[in-house]
Amino acid sequence: MELFDVYPLYNVTPESAQGCNVYDDQGKKYLDLYGGHGVISIGHSHKSYVTAISEQLQKMGFYSNSIKNPLQEAFAEKLGLVSGCEDYNLFLCNSGAEANENALKMASFETGKRKVIAFDKAFHGRTSAAVAVTDNKKINAPLNSQHEVVFLPLNNIKLVEKELAANDVAAVIIEGIQGVGGLDQGTKEFFQALESLCKQYSVMLILDEIQSGYGRSGKFFSFQHHGIHPDIISIAKGMGNGFPIGGILISKNIKASYGLLGTTFGGNHLACAAGLSVLNVIEEEQLIENVNAVSSHFLKRIKEVDGIKSIKGKGLMLGVTFDFPVSEIRKALIFEEGIFTGGAADPKLLRILPPLSVTKQEIDSFIEALKRVLSKVAHKETRI
Ligand SMILES: Cc1ncc(COP(=O)(O)O)c(C=O)c1O
Repeated sequence: MELFDVYPLYNVTPESAQGCNVYDDQGKKYLDLYGGHGVISIGHSHKSYVTAISEQLQKMGFYSNSIKNPLQEAFAEKLGLVSGCEDYNLFLCNSGAEANENALKMASFETGKRKVIAFDKAFHGRTSAAVAVTDNKKINAPLNSQHEVVFLPLNNIKLVEKELAANDVAAVIIEGIQGVGGLDQGTKEFFQALESLCKQYSVMLILDEIQSGYGRSGKFFSFQHHGIHPDIISIAKGMGNGFPIGGILISKNIKASYGLLGTTFGGNHLACAAGLSVLNVIEEEQLIENVNAVSSHFLKRIKEVDGIKSIKGKGLMLGVTFDFPVSEIRKALIFEEGIFTGGAADPKLLRILPPLSVTKQEIDSFIEALKRVLSKVAHKETRI
């Protein structure tokens, strides 16, 4: 059997990883400023994380959601404390798309409506409703067109209000900071107006914090920069530092009933052990403080690099834009400098999503490498 060929691959085979470094099958070391697509939060193979998962596995890896699992309760309590969202309930699942699927379903149950407002360039995952609210026709199959979705431009509150006034909307779903779309974000005023309009029209406000959450923006959730209180918050990626786990935080005003949501694997013992360990490390190693310190350092040092058009994003969810496509820069960074970075829907944007434990020195080595790579690219362009 061969693999279903859906991923264009770089010719690199990572075999082991530690902290912010990845090592390939030839023993070559790479600096990971991509975090496996914003997933690695506390650093690769963190010692206490490895111990927590290994010890749990020795005891029990999995049992179904039909028994008591105190690890789920311990995880929910810790997440409430560390995130400052103690006034929410938690439903656990396995991925980001599944989190959004459940968030949208909950909003529809709660309001009895089906229409959803999403935003231009949004990415919310690839399952049925999640992909329908994703602004990319290429990854929507005819089956997904059953969903009623309206895409609006970010930061145009008048258009949102016009849609809400029809009184047929179940939810507004928005990323705290857009990831795949290219690091655009709503303004504070926009988020605040969105919150009050959703309240006024009894519409569920869903904050997709799958990429922007878990400390990446410099606060636990990026919406916390705007002082708002969404109805539902979806989480995944950094939550398990690579262990598949997702979830939704649901406002206590929304009532649960048996069977309303469910999953076989969600919230299993191993996933909870991984998730608890991540929260402990974020707290003990003060990783959110580190995000803010390293982000300021990045923003200061990147000014030294010629040819950059703009810097987008917040914390350690950053985009560096150029006047030309960045694919050659990304390749040179990997193969000549040993540094992983990310791309986005905008071909001129280089995405920086390192583990939250990245150091200022590691950022310094990226800046020097970027200068070297850019001077070669510029040299090639003048030769052409
Ligand atoms: C903002 C956002 N939402 C949802 C998803 C989907 O998550 P998953 O790939 O775990 O299904 C992603 C993944 O990149 C994302 O960035």
